[in-house]
Formats: sequence, structure tokens, C-alpha cells
Amino acid sequence: MPNVLYVTANPKPESQSLSLRIGREFIENYKKNNPGDTLTELDLYRDSIPLLDADVFQGWGILQKGGDFNGLSPQQQAKIGRLTQIVDQFVAHDKYIFVTPMWNFGFPPMIKAYVDAIVIAGKTFIFTDNGSVGLLKNKKMLHIIASGGTFSEGPLMHLDFNDRYFRELVGFLGITDYDRLWVEGAAKYPEKTEEILAVVLEEARVKALTF
Ligand SMILES: Cc1cc2nc3c(=O)[nH]c(=O)nc-3n(C[C@H](O)[C@H](O)[C@H](O)COP(=O)(O)O)c2cc1C
Repeated sequence: MPNVLYVTANPKPESQSLSLRIGREFIENYKKNNPGDTLTELDLYRDSIPLLDADVFQGWGILQKGGDFNGLSPQQQAKIGRLTQIVDQFVAHDKYIFVTPMWNFGFPPMIKAYVDAIVIAGKTFIFTDNGSVGLLKNKKMLHIIASGGTFSEGPLMHLDFNDRYFRELVGFLGITDYDRLWVEGAAKYPEKTEEILAVVLEEARVKALTF
């Protein structure tokens, strides 16, 4: 049975976030349709995601030279231990659902911290003589996005560094089955927010049947 990882990165309560409302609708329907799957929820604003800082780089340097993990400082052990857990957890899952608000054409910084934790040579990709190769095969990803403006089509498409970044990033790791749900344009038409949301909620219910 597939292991499903549901990753969110939004400090708002679920009821106040368009993307989290879509995410919850999707996941509740998915669970109904796939009762045997194992679902893990990871909230990047609640669960610890260490940044790649001096402790981490120094610790990794020691380990690369054959040093012993137990010889690292307590801070290095804590951070590197947690980073290893994060990438191993990612690899152990088959399906990924990421929920991100668009912030300044991209996404919240905790997503970048998470990306830096999971893009690890030898675990999620390898370098070869012919370039790098993603190691995550037969996996799929759904990305749920909310943005105030419209970026999936039209004159602002080139300013999207959220959806395009994710598609390229997970492709680099070997995940080519990438799909998205995007609730967008509510800032332009605030009076239509619930109407816009209702359309994407229905799309979420439909996608939850086949994901
Ligand atoms: C810090 C911040 C930056 C934002 N930057 C953008 C942006 O670049 N483009 C845009 O269309 N909307 C932007 N917005 C609006 C959000 O994308 C919009 O409110 C969306 O609904 C947020 O998702 P959420 O409702 O799931 O929190 C920004 C909002 C915040 C708080």
C-alpha cells in the first residue's frame, strides 16, 4: 500500500488559508478513496527543519573524511541527525502532496529549507559521467498552490517561481508525474473568492479519485 506524504508550509490556521482548505478537502477525499494507504502529515512551520548552517557543513565535512557521527558536537549531531531523518522519510514515501501559498512569486522560506534537506546526492539523485540522475522512480506529486494573482496563464506566467520551480525540482529527482491544483486570482476579485475556491475544491475531489 502506498505511503503518502502531505507537506504544508503555511503559518496561517487552516480555515484562513485557501491552499490549506483545498489541501484538506483533497486529503480527506483521498483517505476515503484509499483507506489502506498510510498518510503522514508534515507541517514545516511546526516540525523542526534545520537550516544548512556552519554546524551542518562542518559536521558533514568531518563525516565525509571518515569521521564518526558520535564525535560530532551535540549541535552538529542534532542538526545532521534530523536532516538525515527528513531525507530518509521523503525517500520512503511514494506519493507527495505539497501545499504552498505563493509568496513574492515563490514560496515561504521553510519550503526552501525543506528542499535543501531532501536534495541530497546519493539519496535522491546521483552524479554520473552523463550528468545527474534522479533516484526517485515510480513516484508522483500533487502541488496545491494559492496565489492572489493569476500566474498559470496570461501575462504574469513568467513571474511564477513556485509551480515551475517545483516541477523542475522534482523532475531533477526523477519524479515526472507532477500535477497541480491552483486557486488563483482571489486578490483581483475578492468578492469572488468563495466562487473561485468552490471550483478548485471540486477539482480536488475529482483528483482525489485517481491520484
Ligand atoms: C508575504 C506574502 C507575499 C505574497 N506574494 C504574492 C505574490 O507574489 N503574488 C501573488 O499573486 N500573491 C501574493 N500573495 C498573496 C497570496 O498568494 C494569497 O493571499 C494566497 O491566497 C495565499 O495562500 P493561502 O491563502 O493558502 O495562505 C502574498 C501574500 C503574502 C502573505
